[in-house]
Amino acid sequence: MRTSASREKVGRRYELDLTQPDGRAVGADVWRRRDQSGNSRAAAERNAVAEGVAGRVELADADARDLPFASGSFDVVVSSLAISNIREAGGRAQALREAVRVLRPGGRLRIVDEGADRYAVVLREAGCTGVAVRQLGWRTWYGLPGHHFPLVAAARPAAQPYLPFGAAAAAGARCAA
Ligand SMILES: C[S@@+](CC[C@H](N)C(=O)[O-])C[C@H]1O[C@@H](n2cnc3c(N)ncnc32)[C@H](O)[C@@H]1O
Repeated sequence: MRTSASREKVGRRYELDLTQPDGRAVGADVWRRRDQSGNSRAAAERNAVAEGVAGRVELADADARDLPFASGSFDVVVSSLAISNIREAGGRAQALREAVRVLRPGGRLRIVDEGADRYAVVLREAGCTGVAVRQLGWRTWYGLPGHHFPLVAAARPAAQPYLPFGAAAAAGARCAA
């Protein structure tokens, strides 16, 4: 999401606040039908029209492991129930590193997901600060009562460049989490 005054909140789903006049959002997905019935870019476009934000929403056919966006180009990155759909742990870690890469220094990351509590390690290794996990409770019950999701929050430090994987020791030394 690119905006100077964006905020996000977690209810039954993530809601991006596009009420700010300069707020823009980019949605990246591979639109896999086995992950969600009726999944398609066209359906997402219809949702944007229905919400009255089509003019400020851009959609991209993009794999979270290899985002076609410049480094440091987003104020906020949010992800809901998507990264856990990447089967291999290495792929999930790569998607997390990509999310950090595209964040501007000082940008914020919020991920709701089945395994979000396990993502904290990777985010710290990627140099994030403020890495915190909390359970979201009944508002994220999915299917069965009691089956709810954790949220992991993190930020890209304002004055620290993205640290590629392998620089974990240095990142750990700098993390405030
Ligand atoms: C369970 S659906 C969740 C959809 C929506 N975010 C929500 O919260 O309702 C999982 C989504 O992750 C997407 N997805 C799976 N693997 C992906 C990948 N490697 N890159 C981008 N999107 C992916 C699927 O296409 C699908 O849209």
